[in-house]
Amino acid sequence: MNRNEKILLSALRGRRTMRPPFWYMRQAGRYLPEYRELRARADGFLDFCLTPDLAVEATLQPIRRFAPDAAILFSDILVLPWALGQEVRFEEGTGPLLEAVTDTAGLAGLDGSDVEGRLAPVAETVSRLAAELPEAVALIGFAGAPWTVATYMVEGGGSRDFAAVKGWAYRDPDGFQALIDLLVQATVIYLRMQVAAGAEAIQIFDTWAGVLPEADFRRWVVAPTAAIVAALKAESPRVPVIGFPRGAGMLYEAYVRETGIDAVGLDTAVPPSWAAAALQPLVPVQGNLDPVRVVTGSDGMFAAAGRIVDALAGGAHVFNLGHGLIPTTPPENVTALSGFLRGLKKSP
Ligand code: CP3
Repeated sequence: MNRNEKILLSALRGRRTMRPPFWYMRQAGRYLPEYRELRARADGFLDFCLTPDLAVEATLQPIRRFAPDAAILFSDILVLPWALGQEVRFEEGTGPLLEAVTDTAGLAGLDGSDVEGRLAPVAETVSRLAAELPEAVALIGFAGAPWTVATYMVEGGGSRDFAAVKGWAYRDPDGFQALIDLLVQATVIYLRMQVAAGAEAIQIFDTWAGVLPEADFRRWVVAPTAAIVAALKAESPRVPVIGFPRGAGMLYEAYVRETGIDAVGLDTAVPPSWAAAALQPLVPVQGNLDPVRVVTGSDGMFAAAGRIVDALAGGAHVFNLGHGLIPTTPPENVTALSGFLRGLKKSP
C-alpha cells in the first residue's frame, strides 16, 4: 500500500479508506457567485470551456471553498460533438442547442480527424491543473458516454421522449452504429489526451443510460463503454475509470460486470443497501445523495448523507451526489456537508 496515495485513488482502487473520499458532480457551476462572475467574462459557454485561464479557475473555485478530495476538469460533454464539426450552442435558459444529425447523410458532415487539435485547449487546462492542484487532491477527467452524447447530437439538444435518437437506432441500427463507432473512437482519443496531460481518474457520464430497453442498453450503453474502457486500459491500466449509467436500475449489475469499469456511480434512486450487496463486492461505488438534499440542507441533509455512508461502509465508497449540484444550492450547505464528511472516521 502506498501511504502517499491520494485518498480518492485508494478508494477507486478498491481499498478501505479511513473515511469515504468525497467530491460533487457539478461542483463548479452557477450556484457559486464566483462562477457566475467568471462566466460573465467568456463570450459563450463553449468559449469558456476552451479557454484554459477560465477553465482552470472554474475548476479550482470549489476546491478552495470546500477542499474536496478531487477536482473535476471544467469542461462539458458537448465539446466532443463540436470537435467533430457539429454546430453546438448553449442558450441561456434553454440549455444546449445542436444542429441535429439524424441519419447517415448527416454523418457525412462530421469529421473525427482532428479531435486532438480542436480539443488541445482542454489538454492544456488539464496539465495546468495537474501542476496547480493541492497535493492531496486528485484530478478527474471526463467525457460523455457515446449513447448520451448521441442523444444530444441527434435530438439537437435535450429531450423528453428521445424519439429521434431511438427512432434512428431502431429504424437503422447499422447507420446509428456508425455514429456510435465514431463517438467511441473520438472519445478514446479525447480521454487518452486527458490522461497524457495528467488526469488521474476518468469518469464516463451516461446521463441517459436509463431510457433504453435491455437489448438496446447492451448494444448502445454497455458495448461502447466496454470498448472505451478496454482501449484506455490497454494504455493506462492504473488509471481508474468510473462509469455513471444514470437510471440503469436493474441493469446496473450487468453494466458493472460487462463494461470493465473500475468503479460505478450510483444515481439517487439506487438503494445503497442493494448496492452494498450487489455491486460493492464487484467494484467500488460512488454516490448517491439526492442533490436536492443539499438545497434543503439542515438535519435532513446530514441524516441522508449518514445513511449512505453507513450502508456502504463495508467496502470501498466514494461519497458523491446521485446527480449534479443544482443552481439553487446554497454554497454554505456544501461547506457544511464537506465538514461533516471530512470529520468521519470508520470504526475498525
Ligand atoms: O463541475 C463539474 O462537474 C465539471 C463540469 C461539467 C459541466 N458539465 C459543466 C457545465 C460536467 C462534468 C458536465 C457534464 C455534462 N454536461 C453532462 C453529464 C452530467 C449530467 O449533468 O448529467 C451533460 C448531460 C451535459 C450537457 C449539458 N451541459 C447540459 C444539458 C447543460 C445545460 C443544463 C445546465 O445545467 O445549464 C450544460 C451546461 C453546463 N455544463 C453548465 C455547466 C457548469 C451550465 C452552463 C452555464 O454556466 O451557463
